[in-house]
Amino acid sequence: MIVFDQVSKSYDGVSKVIDTISFKVLQGEILVLLGSSGCGKSTILKMINRLVDPTSGAIYLDGKDILKQNPVELRRSIGYVFQGIGLFPHMSVKENVDIVPRMLDWPEQRINERCRELLELVGLPTENYAKRFPDELSGGQQQRVAVARALASDPDFLLMDEPFGALDAITRDSLQQEFLDLKQRLAKTVVFVTHDIVEALTLGDRIAILNEGRLEQIATGKEILQQPATAFVRDLFAKSINRLKTFKDTL
Ligand SMILES: Nc1ncnc2c1ncn2[C@@H]1O[C@H](COP(=O)(O)OP(=O)(O)OP(=O)(O)O)[C@@H](O)[C@H]1O
Ligand SMILES: [Mg+2]
Repeated sequence: MIVFDQVSKSYDGVSKVIDTISFKVLQGEILVLLGSSGCGKSTILKMINRLVDPTSGAIYLDGKDILKQNPVELRRSIGYVFQGIGLFPHMSVKENVDIVPRMLDWPEQRINERCRELLELVGLPTENYAKRFPDELSGGQQQRVAVARALASDPDFLLMDEPFGALDAITRDSLQQEFLDLKQRLAKTVVFVTHDIVEALTLGDRIAILNEGRLEQIATGKEILQQPATAFVRDLFAKSINRLKTFKDTL
């Protein structure tokens, strides 16, 4: 479980980009962070693995205060798919997936077995894909490798920062479904960032809606649609639904 307790973050010591937020991500749950650009989604993920530290408040992973843990050890329990940072272009698919196990000094055979297993898991069999370079893969295939890489050391927690953001709607759809299947099998605790409402509703066991560093509502998609907690949440969902309706009316 991940717990945020009254967490705030200021980068410049003046304005708060995260303002006193508290929430829990339950064991085995996908919590989606939804909000517009600049509202603080990536900052929340970065604080979980200590790329940045909170200005005040505390964050606990499985009951332990992360500020009291060694950041390197902490990161071993966390897989991270970074926003906009793809694969290392000069490394093959296998080399990209092997990075963390190699850092952890796993024996060669274990690294090879793990890589084979992971590529199988994300639908890119070793025989066809292990030796290719990122520019020899489609965008969706690259994203799968990024997910495989984040899973390599079998972390309990997975942080995914707009992992399907740059993909076309059809590829995104199929990766979302595959991700749901994968999640069922792996039972990870996931924090998944998106600014796409449909993606949030599709993937989230619960959705946390952020607005300028504040938490507007955290609930299931159904609860949010039925009972938006604030005017901001109501407007956010109403706008998307209205856009779809308007489009349908033009057909
Ligand atoms: N290292 C930094 N130094 C100063 N300000 C920063 C830094 N990183 C982020 N910010 C600011 O903090 C705010 C939140 O940024 P963050 O990256 O968390 O937003 P986001 O919700 O992930 O946005 P996006 O959807 O565009 O990725 C933004 O106003 C951003 O400019
Ligand atoms: Mg971001």
